[in-house]
Amino acid sequence: MERREYKYVSVMTSSTQRYEDPFAGSTGLEVWRGAEMLSRYLEANPVTGRVVELGAGTGLPGLTAAKLGARVTLTDQDPQVLELLRHNVQVNGLDVDVRRVVFGDAIDADVVLAADILYLTRQVKPLRQTLRVVDDGAECLFAHEMRRTWHRGGQDETDEVWDAFRRQCDGLTFRVLESNEQLHLFKITSS
Ligand SMILES: C[S@@+](CC[C@H](N)C(=O)[O-])C[C@H]1O[C@@H](n2cnc3c(N)ncnc32)[C@H](O)[C@@H]1O
Repeated sequence: MERREYKYVSVMTSSTQRYEDPFAGSTGLEVWRGAEMLSRYLEANPVTGRVVELGAGTGLPGLTAAKLGARVTLTDQDPQVLELLRHNVQVNGLDVDVRRVVFGDAIDADVVLAADILYLTRQVKPLRQTLRVVDDGAECLFAHEMRRTWHRGGQDETDEVWDAFRRQCDGLTFRVLESNEQLHLFKITSS
């Protein structure tokens, strides 16, 4: 385990678990660039209300939001990641819920946080389902890295995934808050 220090929180990552294959297992035991971008945004622009982070991994953005006063639930599908999330909540001495949410599940939130959670075609429709909460008035801060093609197991996953997601989100507004090369932070709302 490796500890990484940020402005308001620190997170433990697992240096022994590196997932080269995006189709196998979780990628959530390390901190991805999108999480750092989103966390920095939250440091400068704290959010309030009920905050849910999807595919939280180490939980950096959600922990930052909690440190700055939000009521946060950190979620992920992967039991190993959930264990790490509970540990990271403890490390920071925060009162934050951790629970299993798989894309497709309904959530209740005023603000949804998401960093680097979309890279497979099969995630698109279920994720849109979970983001129905945005149609009901929540806002979503969504960090996304536009990646090159993955070639794995005879499948190609490309930023066609992103295009498919945008099509699924027809009717929602995507506003770019920040960009750094291929990495973008969007605010997604229903208005
Ligand atoms: C690339 S990691 C990003 C982790 C963290 N958000 C970050 O940016 O550092 C993707 C995360 O999404 C989670 N994830 C992937 N598919 C999911 C699904 N269908 N439902 C819930 N979580 C999922 C993975 O377990 C993993 O923690």
